[in-house]
Amino acid sequence: PHLRSPAGFAMTDALRRYLEYYRDLGIRNLYLTGYTTSTLPKARETAAAATAAGAVEAAVPVAAPPAAAAVPRPATTLDLGLAPAAPADAAPALPEPVETLDDILADIGNCTRCRLHKGRNKLVFGVGNPKAKLVFVGEGPGADEDEQGIPFVGRAGQLLTAMIDNTAAKEGIPIRRADVYICNVVKCRPPDNRTPEPDEMEICGQFLARQLAVLRPRAICALGGTAAKALTGRKEGVTRMRGNWFKWRGIPLMVTYHPSYLLRPYNQNAKREAWEDLKKVLHLVYD
Ligand code: URA
Ligand code: SF4
Repeated sequence: PHLRSPAGFAMTDALRRYLEYYRDLGIRNLYLTGYTTSTLPKARETAAAATAAGAVEAAVPVAAPPAAAAVPRPATTLDLGLAPAAPADAAPALPEPVETLDDILADIGNCTRCRLHKGRNKLVFGVGNPKAKLVFVGEGPGADEDEQGIPFVGRAGQLLTAMIDNTAAKEGIPIRRADVYICNVVKCRPPDNRTPEPDEMEICGQFLARQLAVLRPRAICALGGTAAKALTGRKEGVTRMRGNWFKWRGIPLMVTYHPSYLLRPYNQNAKREAWEDLKKVLHLVYD
């Protein structure tokens, strides 16, 4: 039998299953609508979808995960239902995925859910092995990534590639960049490469959470403060967090410096530290 929302929309079992999955993933809000509905050609359909979404939300109350309830975080923090390090064991288990990476990509579509769509040339979803045991998460696309639609292909990306390939080779671990998966917190390039705003991270963050839930890697490596904040909900700077293990929904999460930071000549000490962090991650995942 179908559930019926208060507004009278029939809710199929499939739709219900998706909504429950997103809820179990800790996604509080599904941003189904465009950022500027009035300027979109399909404005009327979008508005109808929004109404339906509101009704569905009323029919399936989205409960806050226990970890989030126990440790309230300010609204400015991206909240993907992520557990802070200490009570990580209390985090609910990651639900069995009911979708694929291609499904997520299709759902993103020609996304206008946040203002970052305005400046984008190509949306940057992610790259690498869908069966990867290790996922790197950056901040957001830069100019080169925006042009090519592939994460970490610019100068910082080349450094990341060298770090992965060289560290693995040195440690006798037979993997290369193509064996891992790489993506960002936001999928569209922020203007002038500014840091993504909290609302942009919140809106786009659902896609990152869904990617990670489908990939289910053995470990995640957060590159820089933005990814670290997004995935841990913590506010400390990357300097304090790096080199330490956290958890994202039960998956070990290492925080390290962003490769762009390592490119600056006065940060050569950080380079050595980043290499150490990467070594730890590679051994945890591939030993
Ligand atoms: N910096 C990022 O954070 N991500 C990219 O994809 C490229 C540069
Ligand atoms: Fe959509 Fe994310 Fe791009 Fe914003 S950054 S428009 S939410 S894909």
